[in-house]
Amino acid sequence: MTMPAPTVLAFAGSTREGSFNKRLVKIAAAGAREAGAEMTSLDLRDLPMPLFDQDLEVREGLPPNARKFKELLLAHQGLLIASPEYNSAFSGVLKNAIDWASREAPGEAPLACFVGKVAALMSASPGALGGLRGLVHVRLMLSNIRVLVLPEQVAIPRAHEAFSPDGTLKDPKQQAAVERLGARLAHVVTQLAS
Ligand SMILES: Cc1cc2nc3c(=O)[nH]c(=O)nc-3n(C[C@H](O)[C@H](O)[C@H](O)COP(=O)(O)O)c2cc1C
Repeated sequence: MTMPAPTVLAFAGSTREGSFNKRLVKIAAAGAREAGAEMTSLDLRDLPMPLFDQDLEVREGLPPNARKFKELLLAHQGLLIASPEYNSAFSGVLKNAIDWASREAPGEAPLACFVGKVAALMSASPGALGGLRGLVHVRLMLSNIRVLVLPEQVAIPRAHEAFSPDGTLKDPKQQAAVERLGARLAHVVTQLAS
C-alpha cells in the first residue's frame, strides 16, 4: 500500500523582502519536495498579525490572519522553519505568530495545531554563528508546545556572502545539508504516520 505524501509547511521567521532565512527555507523545501513531500510555502509577510494582546483577544477573538496561520499549521504534518537570530534569540515575528496560534478556540484541544507536528529548524545570519544561538530558543519553545523537533539542524554563517543569485548556496556541501534536512523531515513524518 502506498503511503500518502507527507504534508509540510515551510516558512521563515522574517518578513524582510531580501531575507536570507526565506531563501534558506526554500532550499530545504525543495529537498523535502524531492523526497516526496507535498509542500506549502508561507511568507509571514502575507499574514500580518497585530502584536498579541489578551484584551484584543477577549474583545475580538483571533485576528483573521492568526486564524489562517493556525489553519495552515493544522493542515500540515511537518514544519520547516528558518529562524533569524535577533539578540541571541529569535524574531518577534515568529514568536508573535506562534503565540497567537497557541490560543485555543472554544471546544478545541489545547495546542491543537502543534501537538504531534514534526519540525526541522535552520537559520542564516551574516554573523559567524549563523543564527545558531537563536535556534536553541526555537527548539525549546516548540518542544514545550509539544512539537517534535528533529535533532538535525543547519545554521548558515556569513549569509550575506553565502547565496548565489539563483538562490542556491554557493557551497555545495551547505546546499546538500539543507536539502538533506528537508528530506529528513519528509522521511520522519512518513515514518511516524505509518
Ligand atoms: C534587532 C536585531 C538583532 C539582531 N541580533 C543578531 C544576533 O544576535 N545574532 C546574529 O547573528 N545576527 C543578529 N542580527 C542580524 C540578523 O541575523 C540579520 O539582520 C539577518 O539578515 C536577519 O534575517 P533575515 O535575513 O532572514 O531577515 C540582528 C538583527 C536585528 C535587526
